[in-house]
Amino acid sequence: MSAKVKENFSLKEYNTFGISIKAKYFVEIDRLNQLKEIFEIEKFKNTNILLLGGGSNILFTKDFDGLVVKNNILGIEKISENEDTVLIKSGSGENWHKFVLYCLDNNFSGIENLSLIPGTVGAAPLQNIGAYGVEIKDVFHSLSAFEISTGELKTFFIEDCHFGYRESIFKKELKNKFIIISVTFKLSKSPKINISYGAITDTLKEMGINNPTIKDVSKAVCYIRSTKLPDPLLIGNAGSFFKNPEITPEHFNILKEKFPDIVSYKTNTDNLKIPAGWLIEKAGWKGKTFDNYGVHKNQALVLVNYDDAKGDDINKLADQIKESIFNNFGINLEKEVNII
Ligand code: EPU
Repeated sequence: MSAKVKENFSLKEYNTFGISIKAKYFVEIDRLNQLKEIFEIEKFKNTNILLLGGGSNILFTKDFDGLVVKNNILGIEKISENEDTVLIKSGSGENWHKFVLYCLDNNFSGIENLSLIPGTVGAAPLQNIGAYGVEIKDVFHSLSAFEISTGELKTFFIEDCHFGYRESIFKKELKNKFIIISVTFKLSKSPKINISYGAITDTLKEMGINNPTIKDVSKAVCYIRSTKLPDPLLIGNAGSFFKNPEITPEHFNILKEKFPDIVSYKTNTDNLKIPAGWLIEKAGWKGKTFDNYGVHKNQALVLVNYDDAKGDDINKLADQIKESIFNNFGINLEKEVNII
């Protein structure tokens, strides 16, 4: 069946920030043929395109003057396996956490630390989602994507994706040029437990678990996330609003003099990573509320929409925070959320 294009369509239910804006055109697709048909229509060939998965990493500041494509392509299948590993392919429109649960139920290990991240499977490689010591790139095998300009399907392997910290080629050079159709993951058939992240170890200890299974690790991650991060179904948000910045050792030493309690993490280089949440809290923003939006009270890195806030107001708050962090610490924060 052809997909139906709707006009002046409200996206409030389609972004986890819950911002009320309209798309000029909106279409939901659940198979490849529908995509081909849409992009054969003359007026959509040169219009602005926005690809929407779970809408969990986006802040709309105005109506969208173009075509929004909501991807609902489903299906999970085993491609191959050997003694140690299994290749699992998932449709890009599958809910990410549902996919994690499928892997847990089948004892496929590798993404249990990524439990409860909002969004879809297709959006996961786009921004190389990560949490509690694991990133998508650690378990990524390949993906298949529809090229809008040619209507062809192309395969991308790990080296083609240019994964970085919350980055991939699909956020940069290939932004809005491809629509991810399916993603294949290489998972382990024996548990590869990664509990290096302090909060997981502490939570497992509190739960009285000494030899955790992958389901235990998932349970611990779900517990940490649900105590720290607001549930987008209850309070509009898009997770971490900024990336954690890196600074030089010289810069760090200057800040350490002034702020002896500064938190930092090692990186692959001499630089140090500083939690943006710490910086924002230290600058006095944590829990601040302005009418119907603000900075979350448990995690300062998350900006929230309490009730029908305007995306533009939230974005202006983000700019004020950026300026304040620069003035206080000489650090330039980079937004992680896509501002549209
Ligand atoms: N902290 C504060 N105050 C706050 C928040 C954090 O001082 O209000 C400090 C604490 O010292 C804490 C440290 O920051 O120990 C790190 O906090 P947390 O473990 O919550 O992680 P994060 O650095 O704030 C990152 C990711 C999250 C991911 C967690 C766990 C980024 C931008 N965010 O947050 O990812 O879930 O680590 O791995 O890298 C997301 O990308 O949307 C996201 C939620």
